Amino acid sequence: MKDKQIKKLIEAERKRQKKVINLIASENYVSKDVLEALGSELTNKYAEGYPSRRYYGGNTIMDKIESLAQERALKLFKLDPSEWHVNVQPLSGSPANLAVYLALVPQGGKVMGMSLDHGGHLTHGHRVSASGKFWVQVPYGVNKETETLDYEALKTTVISEKPNIIVAGYTAYPRVIDFGKFREVADVSGALLMVDMSHFAGLVAGGAYPSPFSAEGGQALADVVTTTVHKTLRGPRAAMIFCRKDPPELIGRAGARELDKKIDKAVFPGLQGGPHLNQIAAVAVALKEAATPAFKKYAAQVIKNAKALSDELQKLGWRIVSGGTDSHLILVDTWNGGNPSTPLRAGGIGGKEASEKLEEAGIIVNKNTIPFDERSPVDPSGIRLGTPAETTRGKKEKDFIRIGQKINMVLRAQG
Ligand SMILES: Cc1ncc(COP(=O)(O)O)c(C=O)c1O
Repeated sequence: MKDKQIKKLIEAERKRQKKVINLIASENYVSKDVLEALGSELTNKYAEGYPSRRYYGGNTIMDKIESLAQERALKLFKLDPSEWHVNVQPLSGSPANLAVYLALVPQGGKVMGMSLDHGGHLTHGHRVSASGKFWVQVPYGVNKETETLDYEALKTTVISEKPNIIVAGYTAYPRVIDFGKFREVADVSGALLMVDMSHFAGLVAGGAYPSPFSAEGGQALADVVTTTVHKTLRGPRAAMIFCRKDPPELIGRAGARELDKKIDKAVFPGLQGGPHLNQIAAVAVALKEAATPAFKKYAAQVIKNAKALSDELQKLGWRIVSGGTDSHLILVDTWNGGNPSTPLRAGGIGGKEASEKLEEAGIIVNKNTIPFDERSPVDPSGIRLGTPAETTRGKKEKDFIRIGQKINMVLRAQG
């Protein structure tokens, strides 16, 4: 690279990534093949439109790449192309979610999403996001005692609020989501069901987490599924939107006809211009990798590692939100953390200070609110830990037990 300044910075970041223990739950390390596709000449091309329907010439090869990505996406999640459609153009998770609302929820309509401080994402209707400015959020949270979803309480909210769409799938929820129960909740008032599987898509692909698409017996679950590609799915920064093609039981339901056409139109020309074909090619590469037996093993190991880390921290006296994990992430309540036999200094340690201390020790995490947090989002009560990145590097349970011990030592050190 001729640009020495940028070259130096890229090298510095590469070194940083190698040196640290990365426990950011939403990050991962992509393969060389994914990087090669991202850094290819495909970035030079404009391809507004969709395969065989482009607004620019010279797109025969781009059509093949985008169609291949779509084919691989449907195949990976075992979806029948006659029943499901996928759009692979969203530039990232946030625009993907916005595109769904733009397509299916009238302006001023209601998006029922989990509150940010309970583990939801900004794009699930939070007021600082466009999703909360053009639509009205009907917030929901977890049960105060169990710190898990309460499906009966959700039903009550749906009956009184009648949301247009219900969003399940979160940023900081460590437990399995019962998508069958969510289907029942949505059917109470005829709302559409959207699952944002950004965080756990790789676990679904690897068969280690329930599918939001359909139940074991084939019963349809979500109407729309969005996902980022760059978290557990281990691909480039990008997103996809899956939707059911005119399911008979949805016909007649408000806004539910031709979901595929509406979503395609919302992505382009609604929100975006030319798709990033270098990114879409990299998505296709990642989807092929995710279909291998090695990836299946990886997905299972991610969860085993999270459980090992959670168990070790609990053993060392830390309070884990909801008492454990079924996924790739855990939430540690550092503020109310230590048990009486191994007390923290009075008052515990806030999420901000905890994450800063850990970074000094080479462990990268993020501060996070915990459900019913009484502290502020800039210095919340907890930290979120995830295992996808370090599992990609080959770490197993015994390594995560050691990481748990190191976290404990760093956080309990005085000064
Ligand atoms: C559940 C969920 N949805 C959407 C997003 C947004 O993705 P992006 O950062 O790619 O816009 C995130 C990002 O953390 C997320 O956790």
